[in-house]
Amino acid sequence: MSDKLWIFDTTLRDGEQVPGCQLNSREKIVVAKALEELGVDIIEAGFPISSPGDFNSVVEISKAVSNPIICALSRAVEKDIEVAAEALKYAKKGRIHTGIGVSPYHIQYKLRSTPEEIIERAVRAVKFAKRFVEDVEFYAEDAGRAEKDFLARIIEQAIKAGATVVNIPDTTGYTLPEQYGAIIRHLKENVSNIDKAIIATHCHNDLGMATANTISGVQNGARQVEVTINGIGERAGNTSMEEVVMAIKCHHDIPVETNIVTPKIYETSRLISKLMNMPVQPNKAIVGRNAFAHSSGIHQDGVLKHRENYEIIDPKDVGVHESSIVLTARSGRAALKHHLDNLGVVLEGEALREVYEEFLILADSKRDISPKDLLTLVGKYIDDS
Ligand code: KIV
Ligand code: ZN
Repeated sequence: MSDKLWIFDTTLRDGEQVPGCQLNSREKIVVAKALEELGVDIIEAGFPISSPGDFNSVVEISKAVSNPIICALSRAVEKDIEVAAEALKYAKKGRIHTGIGVSPYHIQYKLRSTPEEIIERAVRAVKFAKRFVEDVEFYAEDAGRAEKDFLARIIEQAIKAGATVVNIPDTTGYTLPEQYGAIIRHLKENVSNIDKAIIATHCHNDLGMATANTISGVQNGARQVEVTINGIGERAGNTSMEEVVMAIKCHHDIPVETNIVTPKIYETSRLISKLMNMPVQPNKAIVGRNAFAHSSGIHQDGVLKHRENYEIIDPKDVGVHESSIVLTARSGRAALKHHLDNLGVVLEGEALREVYEEFLILADSKRDISPKDLLTLVGKYIDDS
């Protein structure tokens, strides 16, 4: 039996913090509705105290969206929590996400405090948030660099104060998969009341480990993942939703399931890229332009013989119509024949060999070979027939 893995999307909060990616309320509603259709469980809609625009977006998203839980971020500060609660007043299911820094860096240099005072502030914030909503998530900022026993203590106290979800952010993207998994395992083994809350991963990608760390967190007991579409987010970004969802779908030994409607992944990725003015790198896993494009002769031949020779995901499963066989100077005869067949030109034997030689000369001098180029190449064979 698989457990449910809660998908918490923070594209509109952590993702939107990227310079140049800001959206207005109307655009945020479009994104929130697309996320609802995609099947996300929780939408982090914003940080209401941060600006009147963000407050208003949380209000409007709460009105526009019915199924997902709507979450609002706050620091462990009463005024933040009050404003978050006010912004959530129209949410059918609202969650306040409050928390505080827990690493030695944050405690000493950012908050200029002591570990004991940090625990007190965390407990006070969770209890205060509980006055407004039942569903309170506590985040332990910079948990990736925290002292593990202190982290276990503050998480235990946050749950005792009423936290329903405990979020373990690797805020600086510092950890390696084995280390991040060990943090989650440590909490599972050392926090006496851990079964009363869901553990959430929240990983940043500074070392390119966000997806691997998130999966490691899940393998060690986390049951909520905090992600963004296309992995957008500050600096090197957050964990990318599409990567985690498809990794879980491909690996049946990870005992969790998501509600994500995977054929909607590609269109959602394009929507976010367009609205946020943030191009998707061509080789991006799952949603990049080249994610299902085969260009070398050996791979093209293999994939034409049997798709699974070189594809671990059926492109239709993520909303890509079909994989592509790209014609370059590295392409083989099988790829050329495939394209000619699609154009209705059936060449075999010597004729195909001759055209292939001419094709290679052209492909060496030209990056993109178009159908028109191919028809020119095979012109004499068509005319002769
Ligand atoms: O990365 C982080 O620590 C965060 C928290 C505010 C949840 O985004
Ligand atoms: Zn973050």
